[in-house]
Amino acid sequence: MLDQPVRPRRNRKSPVVRDFARETRVGPEHFIYPLFIHDHPSEVAIKSMPGCVRMGLDRMMKEIEGALADRVRSIVLFPAIDEAKKTNGAEEAHNPEGLVPRAIRRIKQELPEVTVVTDVALDPYSAQGHDGLVAPDGRILNDETIEVLVRQAVAQAQAGADIIAPSDMMDGRVGAIRGALDEAGFTEVSILSYTAKYASSFYGPFRDALDSAPKSGDKKTYQMDPANGREALRELELDELEGADMVMVKPAGPYLDVIYRLRQATTLPIAAYQVSGEYAMLKAAAQNGWLDEKKAVLESLLGIRRAGADIILTYYARQASTWLAER
Ligand code: PBG
Repeated sequence: MLDQPVRPRRNRKSPVVRDFARETRVGPEHFIYPLFIHDHPSEVAIKSMPGCVRMGLDRMMKEIEGALADRVRSIVLFPAIDEAKKTNGAEEAHNPEGLVPRAIRRIKQELPEVTVVTDVALDPYSAQGHDGLVAPDGRILNDETIEVLVRQAVAQAQAGADIIAPSDMMDGRVGAIRGALDEAGFTEVSILSYTAKYASSFYGPFRDALDSAPKSGDKKTYQMDPANGREALRELELDELEGADMVMVKPAGPYLDVIYRLRQATTLPIAAYQVSGEYAMLKAAAQNGWLDEKKAVLESLLGIRRAGADIILTYYARQASTWLAER
């Protein structure tokens, strides 16, 4: 016998003991389920995201009923807007009769128990496919964009959104949106800020899903440089001062260190977005038989929780909940 009083394996010796020692849990209560909607009755498959579709509002209601049955209680809406409605000024973003406000009203009427999160950014509505307004010379106009974002946020709140999630990365937008919501009487509507949103190649399949890729240039003058971690703390400080209720890191898997750093630095709830490219990688490997999909997906979600995320936005929300219930 070795003289070895300390043996970490004792805490792994049986399922019951492993349950005692488990530090992190993941469940449907942590998930927000992203949905792609459009203004057509037909359903369109998204090639680079097998299992995800772009759907009309009737189909959306069915999907949300299914999600509730799977114990997923929150969704986030991403619209595909008809090309004809896209303009330089992205006016459709704040049309009270636009697709997103109509979708919110329908959900709140028929399934009021669902927590509805909405995206604030101009890319689905912009003729240029950018999150902000674009000057003739190609620059993204920060302060002018904020005026449009504020109107978009108020239109979403008026329709009944519970949580407004600005993903545009303009400077000062959280404070401006908070002020406008309060002034319009929506003091109870929350802001989930995309605090550290990186200029990532992992958004590729999402832009296919919505036909929302920038027509020219890239998003590097507003989304963060993937090389930077400290800068996320600077964004965090500003979002806290401006009144964000929750903060987000995006993508999730390649940025677990950023989630961890924010966890050390804030008392606010942290969300992490397992983005389209992360979903596509897992799906592709699973479809090739190279990974056990269930195990790999649940491990990826657990890793995001272990890094410090309270909330996970994931296209796997329904399926993961089903898998978790089986165990
Ligand atoms: C745009 C937006 C993007 C995503 C969410 N909101 C794409 C982008 O910034 O270009 C990406 C989500 C994903 O990839 O799953 N405001």
